[in-house]
Amino acid sequence: MAYVLGLDLGTSSLKGLLFNETGKLVGEAIADHPLASPKPGFSEQNPDDWIQSADTVLNQLVLDFPEIKKELVGISFSGQMHSLVILDQEKQVIRPAILWNDVRTTKQCQEIMSRFGDRLVAITKNIAQEGFTLPKILWLQENEPENWAKVRHLMLPKDYLAYWLTGNFSTDFSDAAGTLLLDLTKNQWSEEILSEFSIPKEILPPIFDSAAEVGVLSNDLQKRYGFEQPIKVFAGGADNACAALGAGIIKEGVAMASFGTSGVFLSYESERNIDYKGELHVFCHTVTKEVYSMGVTLAAGNSLSWFRDTFAPDKDFSELLQNIGKIKPGADGLLFTPYLVGERIPYKDSQIRSSFIGIDTHHRLDHFSRAVLEGITFSLKDSQQIMKETANREFKQIVSVGGGAKNKEWLQMQADIFNAEMLVLETEQGPGMGAAMLAAVGSGLFSDFTSCVDQFVHYAKNIQPIPENVRQYEKIYPLYQKVYSQTAELCHALQSLSD
Ligand code: XUL
Repeated sequence: MAYVLGLDLGTSSLKGLLFNETGKLVGEAIADHPLASPKPGFSEQNPDDWIQSADTVLNQLVLDFPEIKKELVGISFSGQMHSLVILDQEKQVIRPAILWNDVRTTKQCQEIMSRFGDRLVAITKNIAQEGFTLPKILWLQENEPENWAKVRHLMLPKDYLAYWLTGNFSTDFSDAAGTLLLDLTKNQWSEEILSEFSIPKEILPPIFDSAAEVGVLSNDLQKRYGFEQPIKVFAGGADNACAALGAGIIKEGVAMASFGTSGVFLSYESERNIDYKGELHVFCHTVTKEVYSMGVTLAAGNSLSWFRDTFAPDKDFSELLQNIGKIKPGADGLLFTPYLVGERIPYKDSQIRSSFIGIDTHHRLDHFSRAVLEGITFSLKDSQQIMKETANREFKQIVSVGGGAKNKEWLQMQADIFNAEMLVLETEQGPGMGAAMLAAVGSGLFSDFTSCVDQFVHYAKNIQPIPENVRQYEKIYPLYQKVYSQTAELCHALQSLSD
């Protein structure tokens, strides 16, 4: 039996998922790594901590499943997007990686957009936002010129893992697109952007298809883990693109709503030239030559954890949410906006912050819990709306993944707010499954992505919208939409006082 391994390099942990050739999950291992915030708005990680996590996971898997020493055929990756990893000429990490959820680069984003905005959108199909890699590079050039001068290799997090495993530098199109350095039409690093921002092309890795082989496991590591045969390593993809593959989003008509630390509303796009004019992100898919669009809510699961940790630290999530079904849609007049760390889509605003609107003496913890979930879901609906208004996209079905798929009341809420049938995966494994599927396609276990999806992806249950709730949410959503414009000025003033 052949096995494939997907390594999902997330923000809080690295998860290894082992699948056999029939698409069955055989085993998994997980290791946490620390996240540092040396200043407000900064978010950093030491790339060598990712290696520690990967080492722990690989050791655990060969211990628990010794058969893979003979039968593992390939490894691939899914990784947190955009985060900047830089190495010097000795191939040593220069400074901690600056992560996707770091918002120190507002000034650089403004500069990029005022000096080069139209060209940037024409070339990359995206506008500059704090999370993306290009503004981080500019921040480095400006604030740490001594570090910038040392950079010989620049890559994304999962590419650092591939380098550690194989000794080769590589990236894939789905992650390259999230740097804002990729010409999405020509499918190559953009000479124009590189020259405009004085970025030497030599520091960038070659770009591969996500399922392309980028090397084999080094001899040292092959021995260390006891593999008896060479293990092929495949380029892998951005976590959202991998999650989409693992949710079967490889054609139009079905969208994905993903609720992790951040929240994502994602649609496959059959038209590579689709132009949302920067209102949504448009990035390359893990499926060769395809693209997808998405909107990102920075604090989705993060809003819920913040709420629990702050107001009900003694409750686990199931206790916190056990009564939300008893509260009517709209939480009896309570609204929440999930802008705890600023927002990306639809508002490009790192200074906006969250609000509860309409608090009344009869509101209890359950109302607040429901309002938090509704606010997170409304925020993803904003992206669904942009897809509808700009590209006429209608989704009859939406696959829910992450925390939002684990609670039946929240799933019903999604069906009612999105006004679509919600699908839930039989065994949801997140982006790591997409990564394992890339290894399966890359190693030739499947001849194409469609047959791989047929084998790996199965939907377990579907939840239909309840018309009465849909009508109620149709009245509440426009009110939710007003909260941003009516609180932005206040939040900006408060932020400037606390600077
Ligand atoms: C997407 C984004 C996040 C990260 C999370 O643009 O920034 O979803 O990929 O790892």
